[in-house]
Amino acid sequence: MTEKNPISDLGVLVTDLRRASMGDAAPAAVKQIMEDVFKKPQDICDIVPEFIENDTLLYEDEFVSIWHCRFIPERTTPPHDHQITAIIGIYRGAEHNDIYEMYPDSSLRKTGETVLLAGEVLQMSPTTIHTVSCASIEPCCGIHVYLGELTVVERSLFDMATGNALPYTEETYRRLMSIK
Ligand SMILES: [Fe+2]
Repeated sequence: MTEKNPISDLGVLVTDLRRASMGDAAPAAVKQIMEDVFKKPQDICDIVPEFIENDTLLYEDEFVSIWHCRFIPERTTPPHDHQITAIIGIYRGAEHNDIYEMYPDSSLRKTGETVLLAGEVLQMSPTTIHTVSCASIEPCCGIHVYLGELTVVERSLFDMATGNALPYTEETYRRLMSIK
């Protein structure tokens, strides 16, 4: 017997995530959907088109921002926060996250790291500071869900060389991206 794909297309997943993001229990509800769906990463591969951009905004409103993200080997994002809850699911490759904390003396220190493999989901708090890189030979692809309007949230980037917090802009993000 052939098992039915629980999500027929990307639009259905986006609609389900939008609905889940509006309730009081949004973090748990969105995480549950992500865990259910990413259990079968090949099903996500089957419904995601080949996006040209590495970061593609699939949907955004005041409750949720849903992105398709692709990380290319040998590049690492600058440390950044989100100021809203983030729930990340990986369906291809592997994503390496270094976790940082800002100490009272304004120094940024690495406090942990985690590698997400295809099929895994990670929830991050609004204040989590992290860098992201690709931990696989092939590009790492996933769906990133943020519980708020990410494009208008005032959040920070951190310059690893100086430890300075900077307002998040796409231009600064690209400038601080490191290449091995
Ligand atoms: Fe991030």
